[in-house]
Amino acid sequence: MRIELQTGRYAAVTCDLLACPVFENKAGAPLIKAMDKATQGLVSTVLSTGEFKPELHRTCLIHRPARLKAQRLLLIGAGKESEFNLARLRDIAGTAARSARLARCKSIALLLCGGFPAAEAARVAAEGALHGNYDSEIYKTRDIETGNVEELVLLGEGKVRLHEAEEGIRRGIILGNAVNFARTLGNEPANVMTPSKLAEHALAVGARTGLEVQIIERAEMEKLGMNALLAVSRGSEQPPKLIVLRFPGQKIKKGDPYYALVGKGVTFDSGGISIKPSEKMEDMKADMAGGAAVLATMAALAELGPRHAVLGLIPAVENLPSGKATKPGDIVKSYQGKTIEIINTDAEGRLILADALAYARTLGATRLIDIATLTAAIIVALGQINAGMMGTDQEILERIRCSARFTGERFWQLPLDEDYRKAILSQIADIKNVGNRCGGAITAAKFLQEFVDNTPWVHLDIAGVDLDHDGQPFAAKGATGFGVRTLVHLLT
Ligand code: BES
Ligand code: MN
Ligand code: ZN
Repeated sequence: MRIELQTGRYAAVTCDLLACPVFENKAGAPLIKAMDKATQGLVSTVLSTGEFKPELHRTCLIHRPARLKAQRLLLIGAGKESEFNLARLRDIAGTAARSARLARCKSIALLLCGGFPAAEAARVAAEGALHGNYDSEIYKTRDIETGNVEELVLLGEGKVRLHEAEEGIRRGIILGNAVNFARTLGNEPANVMTPSKLAEHALAVGARTGLEVQIIERAEMEKLGMNALLAVSRGSEQPPKLIVLRFPGQKIKKGDPYYALVGKGVTFDSGGISIKPSEKMEDMKADMAGGAAVLATMAALAELGPRHAVLGLIPAVENLPSGKATKPGDIVKSYQGKTIEIINTDAEGRLILADALAYARTLGATRLIDIATLTAAIIVALGQINAGMMGTDQEILERIRCSARFTGERFWQLPLDEDYRKAILSQIADIKNVGNRCGGAITAAKFLQEFVDNTPWVHLDIAGVDLDHDGQPFAAKGATGFGVRTLVHLLT
């Protein structure tokens, strides 16, 4: 999609569709009055008859507006003006793009609103439009119902410094593409998105951005003693890959934070020998959503320039049952040294993260953030609205909370008291990989905590938010790319 900002008169913009946000109870606003005139009274008619209510993301399409060069005028409900913010402007741009796709419009214009600085408004609008224009029906060969928006003109309000707006658009495009990249990785089926394929994508990111990408292969893992990671991949024909992404030449001053982002990359989670029920098992193709978020975040950071030193790690494996698979009761010695009794082979995410987190410390990381579709228990606790977060460093937790306020992603902190640890003590080994039925998201985090030692660490459990089964007016169904926005915000 080509995206540019213009400041001229909107009535003179030639395009297939002009999108105009409308706040609730603001029919008297100058812009709405002007639109009413341009449509010879149609805007006030649809508002007064109730045909169009400007509730958030409701839309109304008016054809051939008399005094506009645009072929169509799309009114988009923007909700209450007092509640408006940049995240809402982003999503309205998404709704504009998605509605335009359905109407098979190729060129659209969007009136920016909300009174934000042009660079900020242009940034979120570009990001949202790319998000809305994303299509998850990637394997459909027929009956394709939508077109692609190819051109977006953002119409600035008030005084606009063009070069600043252009920089905003550039950043918005980078972030929008990064989120969509994570979505595509999540949407690809597991017969395509294998650990090797994920590693190939990482190498391609490296070639494109200059990030240094290292793939640690099975033989090297065996030498290093990453037996928790290896245990999970044992049942699969697909070789495991530990993907490491670094900024070449990044200087890490003593005392400065060095972040490691660690993303769970289980390209398919059948449960292994502790096999899952077949219902909804297909969703487990997205069990690498945390890894996808890390890869996409690193790609965006490479283009935006991170404020902090950072590296990315993605342990990528497939969890399948077979004659070679790990069995309940098997015991392995982890990379960090602790022995683990594997009670349930379906609690595999924590096993691969254990070795990756410990390895990140070996690489010098001084702040650890892991992101993982780790537990069904987090869905029981928080539904599919908030991701869970836990950790040993309240400062990072607060900074994530703060970043999330800007990005609109939602995180809710759960406790990590020492008393929860009892549940994962093993009779025969140092630790076991599951607790009892209670507090499953927390005991999973307590397991991870065993492998971060005293390094400040935050764990993000995105099991409930990695997939959107319903879709949104501003977003296709399927993988959400959750976490990319907040992690990029945190590190820039
Ligand atoms: N990948 C799953 C968690 C999951 C469940 C993600 C549903 C998204 C939707 C994870 O590997 C898993 O199977 N966790 C088990 C752990 C249990 C065996 C202790 C779970 O939560 O049921
Ligand atoms: Mn599992
Ligand atoms: Zn899993």
